[in-house]
Order: sequence, then structure tokens, then C-alpha cells
Amino acid sequence: MKKTINTLIARKGGVPVTVLTAYDCPTARIIDEAGIDCILVGDSLGNVILGYENTLAVTVEDMIHHGAAVCRGVKEAFVVVDMPFMSYQPSVRDAVLNAGRIMKETGCQAVKLEGGAEYADRIRAITEAGIPVVAHIGLTPQSVNAMGGYKVQGRTEEAQQKLMQDALAVQRAGAFAVTLECVPAALATKVTEMLDILTIGIGAGNGCDGQVMVYQDILDFTGGFSPKFAKKYANVHDVMLNAFKQYKEECEQRVFPEFKFE
Ligand code: KIV
Repeated sequence: MKKTINTLIARKGGVPVTVLTAYDCPTARIIDEAGIDCILVGDSLGNVILGYENTLAVTVEDMIHHGAAVCRGVKEAFVVVDMPFMSYQPSVRDAVLNAGRIMKETGCQAVKLEGGAEYADRIRAITEAGIPVVAHIGLTPQSVNAMGGYKVQGRTEEAQQKLMQDALAVQRAGAFAVTLECVPAALATKVTEMLDILTIGIGAGNGCDGQVMVYQDILDFTGGFSPKFAKKYANVHDVMLNAFKQYKEECEQRVFPEFKFE
């Protein structure tokens, strides 16, 4: 049965909500088949699929192209699509129009945007247009240049206060969930207990209402860098590399193909 916003909201304080990213139809199908509750078409698309250094170059068209492909592969999971850099920052009007385009043209059930109190007016307007919003605070990759790199957030007393204020602001604005990225576990748990809406953590300990991961990080797709908080459940890099090498060798030795049309 298709999961709805109500299915997720009902999990507040209960069994953690599971979220994985996906960017294409076949991967979304597998994630859906695994029973994952929610698929995020993240703007991490920029780094992990399109080969950019960060998420800043990702466009609304990119998100729609990949978001629609994911939605075509999903039967049950709730699908959230990220609003990319500069699709909501300039104005409330831009935010509503782009959120609307993303929902109309992908078939997703919600959008996600980065930022706290400073974007509360965007969250309110998008929500009032009938589009559920997931907020995203803590480490916000679209602000990598302003933050001076990808760093754990909320370490000072002042930063903790700011994170808690941002969490309350996005809840008041109408977000039904908030992603907490790279914040100390104790702070994430405190925010989770303080809020009525769902918290979905990434690098935020196990006290949140749910967990989200970029699927390449848990499959060890690169065979190289992955974030400290990522547990590797498989080594897909080596599985693919060895298969490709074997194919090359068998082609060169005329072992492949064995099959032939008569
Ligand atoms: O873009 C993304 O994949 C994300 C997750 C890291 C939460 O925003």
C-alpha cells in the first residue's frame, strides 16, 4: 500500500522511519522492494551521480528528470524531492512556483529545502499551497561556501540555541519533518523530544525519529571516501569492478559470448 504523509507522521516517537536516497528508476524499485518507508531524491544527485564537486550546480530540471524516474519505479514508498540551490532562496514566489513544478512534473509527495528560520516564509507558503515540506537544518550542503566546508554543526552553546530556534521555526511554519544533518547526537535527541514533527537524522545519532542515508555511502560505491557516520552494508564498487574486469577478459579471449543465434 502506498505510504502517505500520515503513515510517516504516525511514527513520531515510534519505530524509526527509514529513508534512502535514489536518483533513478531501477534503484528506486529495489529500495521500495526492501520496504524502505521513504525515498529522497536528494540534490546529492550533483555529487554522487552527475560528478559535480558539490550540490550547487543542480537545477530544477535535473531534479524533475531524476525525481520523475524515481516516482515511476516506486509502488509503496513516500517520495520526497529536494529543491535545488536558488530554486527557493530568491523569493517566496520562486519557492512556491518551483515546489509546484517539482510536484506536478515528478509525482512526488513532498519537497525538501535547506534552512531554518530564515526560510520559514517559504515553508509556510509552499505548505499553504498543499505541498508537504521537509525542512533541513544543521549541516546544509547548499551553504558549503558560507559554512567554510562540511563541518559538524551545533557544537557551541550559541549554535545549539540557533539550531533549536530553527527547529521550532520550521515546525511553526508547517514543515511535517526536519532533517538534522551532522549535529551532535545529544542535541539531535533533545530537538527530537522538543518537536511534535518528525526528525530525520543523518550523522545525528540514533535518537531521531528516522534515519536517512545516501545509498552510495552504505553500499561503498566509490571504494574510497565515505562519511564517518556511514556504515558499509556492501562493497558494490568491488562487485562491479570485478564483473567489468571479467567481462573485458572474456571478450578479449573470445570466451564471451557463449550464446549464439543459429
Ligand atoms: O541531498 C541529499 O541527499 C540530502 C541528504 C544528505 C539528507 O539532503
